[in-house]
Amino acid sequence: MAKPRSQFICQSCGNVSTRWAGKCDACGEWNTIVEENTVGGIGGGPQALRSPRKGRVVALTSLAGEIEDAPRIPSGIAELDRATGGGFVRGSAVLVGGDPGIGKSTLLMQAAAALAGKGHRIVYVSGEEAVAQVRLRAQRLGASQAPVELAAETNVEDILATLSEGRRPDLVILDSIQTLWTDLADSAPGTVTQVRAAAQAIIRYAKSTGAAVVLVGHVTKEGQIAGPRVVEHMVDAVLYFEGEGGHHFRILRAVKNRFGPTDEIGVFEMSDKGLREVSNPSELFLGERHAKAPGAAVFAGMEGTRPVLVEIQALVAPSSLGTPRRAVVGWDQPRLAMVLAVLEAHCGVRFGQHDVYLNVAGGYRISEPAADLAVASALVSSLTGLALPADCVYFGEISLSGAIRPVAHAQQRLKEAEKLGFGQAVFPQGSEEPSGPMAGRSFQPGTLTDLVIRIAG
Ligand code: TYD
Ligand code: MG
Repeated sequence: MAKPRSQFICQSCGNVSTRWAGKCDACGEWNTIVEENTVGGIGGGPQALRSPRKGRVVALTSLAGEIEDAPRIPSGIAELDRATGGGFVRGSAVLVGGDPGIGKSTLLMQAAAALAGKGHRIVYVSGEEAVAQVRLRAQRLGASQAPVELAAETNVEDILATLSEGRRPDLVILDSIQTLWTDLADSAPGTVTQVRAAAQAIIRYAKSTGAAVVLVGHVTKEGQIAGPRVVEHMVDAVLYFEGEGGHHFRILRAVKNRFGPTDEIGVFEMSDKGLREVSNPSELFLGERHAKAPGAAVFAGMEGTRPVLVEIQALVAPSSLGTPRRAVVGWDQPRLAMVLAVLEAHCGVRFGQHDVYLNVAGGYRISEPAADLAVASALVSSLTGLALPADCVYFGEISLSGAIRPVAHAQQRLKEAEKLGFGQAVFPQGSEEPSGPMAGRSFQPGTLTDLVIRIAG
């Protein structure tokens, strides 16, 4: 037996140092370094003594005949399949991260039940809940009759031994990675060493058997997957399940995907019977709309290949502070500063004596620069107290010179707006005019000043 060795490992980035420090040299985080015991390093002991074995090389062209099963297992839950890029990939590992209580276990139980119903062998290993608790949740989801195999295990070697019995599973769900531990590492479950070693063993299992594996990971308040940020690099795909407190909708977002796109999202709504798919997110985000109030503009955005309409709300109010307040929810603070600066410098609109609040309705988060035009419109509308037309959508990027630049997918954005009953659009020049009900009712400003004149008269 190798002599136990102490190492000091940053729980945030996994950096290893020989002594304790208050601050990690590698990632700069404070109080993240923890002493862990590893037996001769992970896998360094017995494996280092193993004699090498010859592998097998195959011609790339011969692989087509080797894959006997369909390479992907679609879950049948369209929003989940959209985020994974068409289903779980055999032999791959997916990490599903999210805040505790957001609905990760619910989503995966629903996926497990749907897949098991189609004749796949699905094993759900729960390290957090007892089998009875998992069954209770399945009952609530109306899935208690689905032939999903449940196990309450936390030791990786035991789990792998359990899985080797019977038919090879098509999908294995491990809920969660933070509860797993392996005999190979000495430290407590949830520490970087354990999480990394456990993930490594599970991923090796997936690659060697061709089963698809889903690892569930909890995210800390700071937005990192606690400890297993290192796991992100090891798995084939990383999906984040997000939601905003007080709202019922949840977004499954792919942030890494070796086998599919990373800009797709799946939208769900949490109900008392589990997660419900939302196939038209625009209706959800526009649901709470109070048209006709100054300061509201509808942005025609894109999420991957899908258009999403959301309302942007601005409140511009006289400030009593020396430095007026700028607050943003759901968008970029520096981006707001830029739009304000362009409005001041090129259009003569003054915000210097005003507090500015910007909010994206429904708790949704926008990352596209195409939202500039909608933000500028909402800001000018709130400042002047003049409401924007309720049936108008906005999209376009604003450059520092005050010019309005074209953005991608103009036709798709316009079509979605038409579908939802909007009758007008404001978008950049150079984009094709709408041909449906909006034809002839669009405004294509060349500069931000043109738009300000149109709104404020
Ligand atoms: P859960 O899937 O346990 O979250 P996670 O695994 O991400 O920690 O979801 C827990 C929350 O979801 C809990 O607050 C209850 C709620 N919920 C519903 O609203 N409806 C349901 O049908 C279920 C199963 C859970
Ligand atoms: Mg859970």
